[in-house]
Amino acid sequence: MSVDQELLYSLLGKTISDFGAVFHAPLVLLGDRLGLYRALRDGSPITPAGLAERTGTAERYVREWLNAHAAAGYVDYYPQTGQYAMSPEQAMIFADEGGPAFIVGAFQSAVGAGAILPALESAFRTGEGVGWHEHDHQVFRGTERFYKSGYVANLVSNWIPAITGAQEKLTAGGRVADVGCGHGASTILMAQAFPDARFFGFDYHAPSIAAARERAAAAGLSDRVHFEVGGAKDFAGGAYDLITIFDAFHDLGDPVGAAAHIRSVLKPDGAWMIVEPYADDRLEANFNPIGRAYFAASTLLCTPCSLAQEGGMALGAQAGEARLRAIVTGAGFRTFRRAAETPFNLVFEARA
Ligand SMILES: C[S@@+](CC[C@H](N)C(=O)[O-])C[C@H]1O[C@@H](n2cnc3c(N)ncnc32)[C@H](O)[C@@H]1O
Repeated sequence: MSVDQELLYSLLGKTISDFGAVFHAPLVLLGDRLGLYRALRDGSPITPAGLAERTGTAERYVREWLNAHAAAGYVDYYPQTGQYAMSPEQAMIFADEGGPAFIVGAFQSAVGAGAILPALESAFRTGEGVGWHEHDHQVFRGTERFYKSGYVANLVSNWIPAITGAQEKLTAGGRVADVGCGHGASTILMAQAFPDARFFGFDYHAPSIAAARERAAAAGLSDRVHFEVGGAKDFAGGAYDLITIFDAFHDLGDPVGAAAHIRSVLKPDGAWMIVEPYADDRLEANFNPIGRAYFAASTLLCTPCSLAQEGGMALGAQAGEARLRAIVTGAGFRTFRRAAETPFNLVFEARA
């Protein structure tokens, strides 16, 4: 077999860039934990010694960290003065926690996902699942922080208004269930936007529910935001005006059973909002940078999570609209439509 040298070098170049990125991921977590990004946030140029002094860290480590960041294009370097600085865009991405472009959580989940490689290796051999609860804490915290950026950017401003009548109902009051709520980032953002509505967050993972309760208490929302341990097929309460499920439907072992339960606890005129990762129905159309990130996360997190549950349907994070529609309408929902989308998400509305 002859080797095309040009193709080989081009592919090698890509893997070298990827391998630099993989090595860079722990640096992002260090910058976050040590306060290096926050100290660079104001944009004023600083030397490694200055940054080390400002953050109580050692200059030699900080200098190397800064050079890795400058090589990545994540900070700017000024050779005339030996100083480094963050542009407003770099600061939004790495230092602006709670902002719409904050990406640190994505690196945090990726590092966390690799922490249980032996369990994943064994699952690949046996075909058995690995539950969400079996992952490292960094996965839960990273997911919360990364997904929250997308919710800050879209949930209240675009997605709720895209669901027929939801904005009006929640403004007037109403009951909302957020299923598979994790640490409750989506639930809390909705509760802050709609002070007259009541919110109920459910997740099967008890430590996530404990974290969500802490977040609600810190936001002063404990009186009308309730978090309970509950599975998607049997969560409590009823007569909900709106049920939401953010990036969790494809993680379920039995999404058909969950859809049937959701239908049974939704008011007859209520709506179900399903937020899923962006995916095209044609497999090959997802072979791009976003599909790559989702397929990788899906291999380590979503697919094993579903396989660990009753049903084990393992839709994967790139399920796509056609498969989701078949499940939801198969459970008795009469309408299913794409209500909104972003480069990262598909937002569907289902009604009974
Ligand atoms: C990718 S995380 C998304 C969390 C949250 N919705 C968010 O957007 O930050 C998936 C969540 O689904 C939850 N989950 C998985 N299977 C579940 C089930 N059968 N019932 C309820 N929650 C489930 C997991 O515990 C996890 O918190």
